[in-house]
Order: sequence, then structure tokens, then C-alpha cells
Amino acid sequence: MSAESDANKRLAALAALEFVEEGAIIGVGTGSTVNLFIEALIPYRKRVRAAVSSSNASTQRLLEGGIPVLDLNDAGDLGVYVDGADEATRARHLIKGGGAALTREKIVAAAAARFVCIADESKLVDRLGTFPLPIEVIPMARSLVARRLAAYGGRPVWRQAVVTDNGNHILDVHGLVIDDPPAMERDLNQLAGVVTVGLFALRPADVLILGTSEGIQVLQ
Ligand code: A5P
Repeated sequence: MSAESDANKRLAALAALEFVEEGAIIGVGTGSTVNLFIEALIPYRKRVRAAVSSSNASTQRLLEGGIPVLDLNDAGDLGVYVDGADEATRARHLIKGGGAALTREKIVAAAAARFVCIADESKLVDRLGTFPLPIEVIPMARSLVARRLAAYGGRPVWRQAVVTDNGNHILDVHGLVIDDPPAMERDLNQLAGVVTVGLFALRPADVLILGTSEGIQVLQ
């Protein structure tokens, strides 16, 4: 990570604190930008009641920082969910899953009234798809899904070193032309064996906070 992108991630992470309501149970995502958000939240941990986390890695950081972590089944609906992205458009459609946590991220985002996405400006794109689209698949369906994805013009690559927190595999799909993110998310969700598509377009971010060399830019 370059020092500039690190500084921009930190700016976005700090700005997200404004969206944390007193006494709330908040959703917390996964990744290097979220790690900066957790770091920023720790001094204000008394402000939140607890967190629901999208990964074992974030859960560990939250607990180490003295922030209680709840199971989503015990937390109910959440006010705000803070998470990063691998790519984002001005319409706040996202590609996520670079850290392989996409399924839990989509679940926690669905439970939250407001999804605040934090990223450095390098993540902003005109069209999604330069970042290979992560898709979590049931292991026995990996080859089947890969063959079906070829029909969409994609080149799926199995992320071999990775097993997700849910015990599944990840295909990273290169070369997709994603002109209509909600339609593609809906289509790929229908393939048998697909657990989660790393497109967040049917439920986009509500607020996109970008850290830039000139300060923060908020799209909502
Ligand atoms: C995790 O699975 C991803 O969706 C992350 O949110 C995404 O990869 C952003 O990560 P960084 O904040 O490390 O760029």
C-alpha cells in the first residue's frame, strides 16, 4: 500500500465515525480500510453498544480493541454498516470480495439501514470490472460455475490458496463487461452453486466516502 493511498484510506475511515450513532450496534466490514476504521473507533468504543462483524479477522480486531461483537442473529437490524470496496462507481455500485469476506459482507449490508462505504480515491471507476469479480461458490460446483461464467465472457480463476470463513471457494472472474451491474448481479446469483456474487448493486452503498489528496469526497 502506498503512503498516499494509506493516508487517503485513513481520511475516509475517520469520516465514517460521523455516521456512528450513540448506543448503536454497528456493522463492521473487512479489509485494510476497515482496519483503519476500527483503529479510529477504539478510543470512542463507549459510543457503541456492540458490533456485528463480517469476518473472523475483523472480529478479532474488534475484540482486541475492547468492542463487543454480537452474532447477527442476536443483534437484529443494524443502523449503519461500514465497509470498504475493491471498486466503486458514482452510482455507488461496488465490487467487493478481494478479502474473500463477500458473503458475510452482503448479509450484514442487507441488515443495515445505511451502508457507508469507505475507500481511497483509486477505487473510483467509471465502469466496474477491471478488478476481477470475486464469486463465492460451493466447492463441488466450482468447475460447473466456471464453465457457465465463460458464457458471460468472463475468465474465472480459482483463488486456490483461499477457503472462505464459510468453507467455500472463490472464483475471480476476469474480463467481464459490467454495463448493467444490478442485472448482472441478478443473473449470476441464479447460477446453481453460486453462494454470493461480489457485485453490490441491488443493494448499493448509501454513502460512498472517498479519501482523496484534497480531502474527503462524499457521494450519496
Ligand atoms: C473484503 O472481502 C473486501 O470486500 C474489502 O472490503 C475490499 O477488498 C476492500 O479492501 P481494502 O480496504 O483493503 O482495499
